[in-house]
Amino acid sequence: MTTTQILIVAFAAIGVVATLAILSVAYRRGGQDAPVVGKVDRRAMRRDRAAAPKASPEPAAMAHGEEGPPPVDPLQARAVVDEATFGVTRRQFFNRGILGIFGLFLAQFGIASLAFMWPKLKPGGFGSKVAAGTASDLLDQVFLPDGRITPLFVPAAQTYLVPFPGDPAGSSFAGLPVVAGGLMALWQRCVHLGCRVPQCDASQGFECPCHGSRYNYHGEYEGGPAPRNLDRFVVAVDDSGQLIIDTGSIIQTARASVKTIQYPQGPSCI
Ligand code: FES
Repeated sequence: MTTTQILIVAFAAIGVVATLAILSVAYRRGGQDAPVVGKVDRRAMRRDRAAAPKASPEPAAMAHGEEGPPPVDPLQARAVVDEATFGVTRRQFFNRGILGIFGLFLAQFGIASLAFMWPKLKPGGFGSKVAAGTASDLLDQVFLPDGRITPLFVPAAQTYLVPFPGDPAGSSFAGLPVVAGGLMALWQRCVHLGCRVPQCDASQGFECPCHGSRYNYHGEYEGGPAPRNLDRFVVAVDDSGQLIIDTGSIIQTARASVKTIQYPQGPSCI
């Protein structure tokens, strides 16, 4: 089971538990509306009986010395009002309002969380394998007429394609699947705090405008607060000659003591 699936199941479980908690509170609150069953206070009963008007005997009965009808017990004679007639009390109104708002908030939060974590099923987007084009065509586009390089940006992969001729053996990329078809795919994200790092034609490198980290055009660390080289993706050339950038496989490399390219080759951009 992947981390995303575990998170989805966890959030669904939290949602079920929260719903059960709300229902249980609502049920208990609803129970308070049921008729009160219990003993009536004796002093209250005596007080009610004393306050009730005494039934006077019928005049005819009095004439014959008979007793009148027994006095009416006000507690027995009380009218029973059903819930529909009684309506909703203010307390019930506020309790139901608060529960409704809380339930609405919880539902929105759950839906937003699921939407955020839902895996991208559409192939070709960032996070999956991106076909950038024919490797030979791409290679032609990364060189300026004077022989300097101009990294080719691939938006779907958030990647700068840069040329890496020869064998990466002996560099900090030795043995890593980061070069294919003479190209390397650098993630545009600065490894310091995540700003997008623009290229600089003049210095032939990448220079971060946020805090000044600098990298040469192979993405090797050259200065500033960045802790390592620019991250890069696994690349491969498929049977049809397409360069495939696997943006789900990120390779991190440490600062290199020996660089594979000279930097800067001109004035800096920052
Ligand atoms: S984010 Fe690039 S140097 Fe800080």
